[in-house]
Formats: sequence, structure tokens, C-alpha cells
Amino acid sequence: MAETQPITIENARSTLKVIFSEATTPEERVRSAKLASTAFGKSLTPEGYLGRDEYLASQPLARGTGWRWWCLTLADNPEQVLAMCKTMHRDLLIRDSSATRQEQGYCICSVVTDSTYRGRGLASVLLKKVAEWLDGPGNATASILYSDVGDFYVSKGWDILDSFESILTVPPSVLHKGQAQFPETRPLTTDDIPRLCERDVECLKDDFQKYDLPKDSVLVTILPTTNMITWLQARIAYMNNQSNGKTPEVKGSICESADSWIYWYSDLLHRKMTIQRVKLPRDQDQATSTRAIARLLLDAIEEAAKWELLEVDLWNPSPELHNATKLLNSELGIKVTNQKRESEHIPCLRWRGGEKRSIIFSPNEFYPWS
Ligand SMILES: CC(C)(COP(=O)(O)OP(=O)(O)OC[C@H]1O[C@@H](n2cnc3c(N)ncnc32)[C@H](O)[C@@H]1OP(=O)(O)O)[C@@H](O)C(=O)NCCC(=O)NCCS
Repeated sequence: MAETQPITIENARSTLKVIFSEATTPEERVRSAKLASTAFGKSLTPEGYLGRDEYLASQPLARGTGWRWWCLTLADNPEQVLAMCKTMHRDLLIRDSSATRQEQGYCICSVVTDSTYRGRGLASVLLKKVAEWLDGPGNATASILYSDVGDFYVSKGWDILDSFESILTVPPSVLHKGQAQFPETRPLTTDDIPRLCERDVECLKDDFQKYDLPKDSVLVTILPTTNMITWLQARIAYMNNQSNGKTPEVKGSICESADSWIYWYSDLLHRKMTIQRVKLPRDQDQATSTRAIARLLLDAIEEAAKWELLEVDLWNPSPELHNATKLLNSELGIKVTNQKRESEHIPCLRWRGGEKRSIIFSPNEFYPWS
């Protein structure tokens, strides 16, 4: 979607004439990626950042129009990218007073303005134009983003979502866990993911139907589809291979007897594991359910220890997860820190047309992050 009409941005310091357009050719994308790498590619070389974008563009979630790049270029010099961002497809699950249904959404990522042009309204114009696209041709019911500048997005009409987290500290020595108390689990690999995602989505739809929804509220989440889960797995594998020349094979753990599993995201460079998704047990009493989740988290901690990672992070843990982390703390002495993320990866949501709705966003875990 190339727009040729220049937009004039005036402020006390300058008058800029810019063009808003979608970067579609390889050359346009490389120019945009070079700008994005200045803000988001600090742990990669510029070539490594471009290589990662190229690799991620070939992932199922991003293929075709799954991943779109938007930019503001100087009207007089279309090769000079002043600001850019990306939109990436998300499958939303929505329940309101009328029904539970699947709708289209997006994640906005890599919003950046060239540092010499900041504070002149460029990101504001870019986000306004992208919002017009989301509300129009993009047909987005809602969009999400994760940023370190939540207040900036609030000023643009976005709403901040919860950003609680539990951090499990990986113990320095091997755990003596008295294995018999916990149910059996087995490691998950890439081959397990499609079947499990299908089951997860099916269970979530069922949970949404049964949810006791307060009047006038909307229950929303992003579906943990195979494409969604494998996207982050591909991303971290690329990053690990760049930084450490290797990446873990094991992607998570499953407790078949409880119909419960987790996927994890092992970041070797930052020595941190983040739990992507926890599929909670079904049809179990509370004690059995808690022990199953605790065992899955123990597997995560053991995997983290194997790779010398220091912590395991859980985003917005549900009450079932809290019960499990409490058990790990009381029975095995695992240190658990519960806190609010104040400055990193703050999730924000925007409803179609900037409409204000009473949103319950759940689950609100790490898996839809970009
Ligand atoms: C955040 C960023 C995109 C803003 O770009 P910009 O073109 O300078 O933004 P604009 O000129 O349209 O808007 C500037 C406004 O945002 C505000 N702002 C900038 N950073 C902010 C922050 N961290 N928190 C709150 N407000 C912020 C400014 O105070 C200014 O407010 P004003 O218009 O009332 O004076 C730019 O600073 C940037 O590229 N940062 C590095 C990358 C990044 O952090 N991206 C966002 C996370 S995905």
C-alpha cells in the first residue's frame, strides 16, 4: 500500500514532509531493518539483525502478509527512513455477551524513530497511519504491543494490560526432589507442538464458553497456535546460535496424565528462561493439578540449570500457577519473587477505532510477545 501524498509535520524546530508507506521490496525492508537494528539489535551485529529478519520472515506466522513493515520516509529522499514499525498477524479469541468467536488481530513491533529526528511527532504520525490501516484494510478487532514506553502508547490511545510476573531463582546445586511425590513428565520437542497446540486451542475455546463473564466485559486472548508458538522458538534458536553457537533441543515438558504441558524460551545470552505457555491440567482435583504444574516447573528449572540460566520467569501467573510456585517454595525451598514489571515488555492493547472496552485479557502469558 504505497501512499504518495506527503504529510507535513510542523513543530517549533522544523517542518518535515514525509511519506507513509509499506516497505515491500527487499531494498525497502533492508533500509527499514537498518533503522530498527539501531534500537532493537543491540545484541546482534547489523548483519546478524538483517539475517534474523530474513530468517524470521520465512516462518509460517510471518510468511506472505503475516508480517508487514511500515515506514515514514523523507518526501525529498524516499531512501531515507525516518521512522518504522511492523505489524504481525495474531489470531484473537473473543467472548462477549453474544458469543465466543475467532477474529483477526495484530501485534505492533519494532516502533522506532531515527534518533536525530525524535521528538518531532514522527512516531505519533506513524502510529496514527498504522491505526487507520488496522481499522480499515487490516480489519483488526484489536491489536497488542509490548514496549518499554507504555506511557507513550497510552498517550496514543492504547491501554496498559497487567504485567505481573513470578521469577523462580534457579538453585546453585542439584535439587533433591523426592521424585515419587510428583507425576511423570517427558520432554517436549518441536514435533509435539502441532498436536498440543490444537488441543490447547480447543480447551481454551471451551474455557471461554464457560467463563463467568461480568456484564459489558469482553474476554480476549491470543490463540496459542502452532505458528504462534513456533515463531518464538525460531527466534530464540536464531539468537542462541548467534550468541552461543548452540541452542537447546528440548522445548518444554508434558505431564500426559494431567493433560498439562509447558513450552519454554531459553535465552542463553541473557541467562534467563521465560515460560511461553502453561496449558493447565483438566479434570483433576486441586492437589493433583498443583503437583502436576509444580513438576512441569521443576523440569523447567532443571533445564535452566543445565544451560546455566539463572532464573525462570512466568508472566501473569494464574492462581493455579501461584499454588504450584508456593509448593515449590515450601517443599523444595525454591526462591519465588512475585513482582510487577514496571519498565520492560509492558503489554498494551488497542480496540478497533480506539474504542474503550472493559477488557479481560486472559491468558496474558509470554507466547504472543514479539
Ligand atoms: C519511543 C519513540 C519511538 C518515540 O518516537 P518520536 O518520533 O520521538 O515520538 P513523537 O515525536 O511522535 O512523540 C514524542 C512524544 O512521546 C513522548 N515520549 C517519548 N518517549 C517516551 C517514553 N519513554 N515514555 C513516555 N513518553 C515518551 C515524548 O515525551 C513526546 O511527548 P510530547 O509529544 O508530549 O512532547 C522513540 O523515542 C524511539 O525510537 N525510541 C527507541 C525505540 C523504542 O523505545 N521504541 C518503543 C518501544 S517498541
